[in-house]
Amino acid sequence: MPQDAPSSTPTALDIAPATGKLGVLTPGLGAVASTFIAGVVAARQGLTAPIGSVSQMAHIRLGARDDDRNPLIREFVPLAELDDLVFGGWDPISANVLEAARTAGVLEERDLAPLSAELEGIVGMDAVFDQRWVKKLDGVRVKDIASKWDQAQALIADIERFRTENDCDRLVMVWCGSTEAYQEPSAVHDTVEAFEAGLRADDENISPSQIYVYAALMSDVPFANGAPNLSVDLPCMIELAGTRGVPIAGKDFKTGQTLMKTLLAPGFKARMLGLRGWYSTNILGNRDGEVLDDPENFKTKEVSKLGVLDTILQPESYPELYGEIDHVVRINYYPPRGDNKEGWDNIDIFGWLGYPMQIKVDFLCRDSILAAPIVLDLALFLDLAHRAGQSGVQEWLSFYLKAPQAAGEAEAEHDLFIQQTKLKNTLREWMGEQPVTHSEAG
Ligand SMILES: NC(=O)c1ccc[n+]([C@@H]2O[C@H](COP(=O)([O-])OP(=O)(O)OC[C@H]3O[C@@H](n4cnc5c(N)ncnc54)[C@H](O)[C@@H]3O)[C@@H](O)[C@H]2O)c1
Repeated sequence: MPQDAPSSTPTALDIAPATGKLGVLTPGLGAVASTFIAGVVAARQGLTAPIGSVSQMAHIRLGARDDDRNPLIREFVPLAELDDLVFGGWDPISANVLEAARTAGVLEERDLAPLSAELEGIVGMDAVFDQRWVKKLDGVRVKDIASKWDQAQALIADIERFRTENDCDRLVMVWCGSTEAYQEPSAVHDTVEAFEAGLRADDENISPSQIYVYAALMSDVPFANGAPNLSVDLPCMIELAGTRGVPIAGKDFKTGQTLMKTLLAPGFKARMLGLRGWYSTNILGNRDGEVLDDPENFKTKEVSKLGVLDTILQPESYPELYGEIDHVVRINYYPPRGDNKEGWDNIDIFGWLGYPMQIKVDFLCRDSILAAPIVLDLALFLDLAHRAGQSGVQEWLSFYLKAPQAAGEAEAEHDLFIQQTKLKNTLREWMGEQPVTHSEAG
């Protein structure tokens, strides 16, 4: 549709400007968080471009194709500038971001050297941590507070102290902590009232990550969950985000093998090629791999990874193509590989007359290099959403997440290309521009 069609031009939202400093808080200062912070600091110093960040590097087409309007997203929407970001976080092990980066071993010493003073100055706050949820880690920098209610109040106090000491105009929180043990929601997660009673009663079903979410939302801080455990996707947190008017997004950063899956599977479906099986196996040797070596923690990850194919391929609509798929996901902890994961996929597809074909993918990937720009984009876009008066689940950020949360009743979209369209059209509409449909007319 022509861009000047008056009847359907969206009304621009009233978005408050991104003035002052934006504090980015990460529970978890491990491989992902330290790589994210180091990359932003390096980009600010002009040492690198923020590669992989859609908010920083992608352009967005506006209007009809021949209008020739194609600004950078960061010049089109009022995002916080990289220079205005300040970082903080909690970790039961890492003392500061430099130490975390060195332990993680993602970045080379030569890349860390020019950033080292700044990274060393970002000191982790003592964590709310309970080994029951992450058996493989032995936390030492942990708040010495037994009551869950008091732990939540201590986090709220940390947030306020950080806000004041760093003179922050606004804050966002992105969970970069370990994957917690598998858990089903229980009665304590049903409502805010039940959750608060559970905090006071030290309910064993409340995990540390949920206490961080509660503290963030009570402090009016938008929250994204980068791990697959239950946290911001619980009914009580969705209710709290609504009543506090705070945007949220979850869960599990879409990187590595799942990123590959969401690139390839929509292609097979677009061509109406059948899929009989998808066997995925990984080796990785970082702390995340060690945590996931425990079956309870792996189960949380497995559930998040397995959901992807069904929602993309819609077996209920295409039973003869996708009705019978063997989908297997394995992760093996293999220390020599460090953060440089290797993921193998064996994909059994079939075509015309049912003839089988195979595809083998060997992705020598760097997980944290893929995850770091996602942390940046989620932080900047959640802050934008907050300033635009949005609250609750931000489904348009599904693009970044392995198990995206749905805002309504319908399941969230998993196809990366539909997710990208949704993200860009949301930005267009918020700014009073026509969505781009890619139809012959537009
Ligand atoms: N790297 C990726 O591509 C990727 C992709 C998807 C999801 N994730 C998830 O992101 C998270 C971070 O990954 P990573 O590679 O940085 O792992 P990591 O093990 O290097 O870092 C996680 C950090 O969280 C800390 N932690 C554990 N419990 C905590 C708590 N209660 N409070 C504060 N900190 C706590 C740990 O001490 C550790 O330093 C993991 O849950 C991982 O599964 C990572």
